[in-house]
Amino acid sequence: MTVQLCRAEACRSMGTEALTAHIEGHTGCKFDSGYQVDTELETVYCLGQCALSPAMTINGELHAACPRHAAKVRALV
Ligand code: FES
Repeated sequence: MTVQLCRAEACRSMGTEALTAHIEGHTGCKFDSGYQVDTELETVYCLGQCALSPAMTINGELHAACPRHAAKVRALV
């Protein structure tokens, strides 16, 4: 699984850091530490979804407004 999490300004203001902690805690991996077992967590800076921040991709599929879909994020990551 590859997760790209936007940590640019709009997403940071909407809860990216809480998502970071959730994803790292759930996967046991750290962002920007390369490929670990079957997971890579990568920081990106703007996915073009600022109006729906915070935004992320999971295996290339875009997910936006993540805190409003927290259950979905937990199921995916
Ligand atoms: S700042 Fe995150 S999608 Fe633009």
